[in-house]
Amino acid sequence: MQGVTVVDHPLVQHKLTIMRDKETSTASFRRLLREISLLLCYEVTRDLELTTRRIETPLQPIDSPTLEGKKLVFASVLRAGNGLLDGMLDLVPAARVAHVGMYRDHETLEAVEYFFKAPSNLGDRLVIVVDPMLATANSAIAAVDKLKERGATNLRFLCLLAAPEGVENFRKSHPDVPVYTASIDECLNEKGYIVPGLGDAGDRMYGTK
Ligand code: URA
Repeated sequence: MQGVTVVDHPLVQHKLTIMRDKETSTASFRRLLREISLLLCYEVTRDLELTTRRIETPLQPIDSPTLEGKKLVFASVLRAGNGLLDGMLDLVPAARVAHVGMYRDHETLEAVEYFFKAPSNLGDRLVIVVDPMLATANSAIAAVDKLKERGATNLRFLCLLAAPEGVENFRKSHPDVPVYTASIDECLNEKGYIVPGLGDAGDRMYGTK
């Protein structure tokens, strides 16, 4: 699918299987999500631009590669986005963080915004939006709408699982935003859950119901 990268690394797929298993505990689920987010972050940042910086090793000077441009922004779609965010910050500790609070109205499945906080000058930075589940894509679309309204022009969307319907909706609304995911599952059910999926990511991360 155009504009969509499925990260099929064996470690990602192995960890995802354990996360899908309904017998996996909250503690294991959270730890695996953090581990998987490191691997997904590695993929979503694979083509970042580099420049060089003059340094001196103990042996000689060298023009050595270093990331070009302003610090990245990771935009977490609350609350489940925070499960991906933690691991990504382990890998890119200097990244700035935006929080976009969205909840899904369980009747309409529409996204309702309740919180937004982002660094200034979003337009100068690559913004990587993170939310584990791209289901209907309503919250993802609304989060990206909001970030664009605040000036973001260069965005990527990273999730753990996607439904084909969600990918299609998202790409229709934001064709300029590439999607990275560990799997595109079969479909959405009538309640808007990804099938086979892993259930409610937020509930499984935090042990809520
Ligand atoms: N959100 C989730 O946490 N799980 C789904 O399957 C769909 C949306």
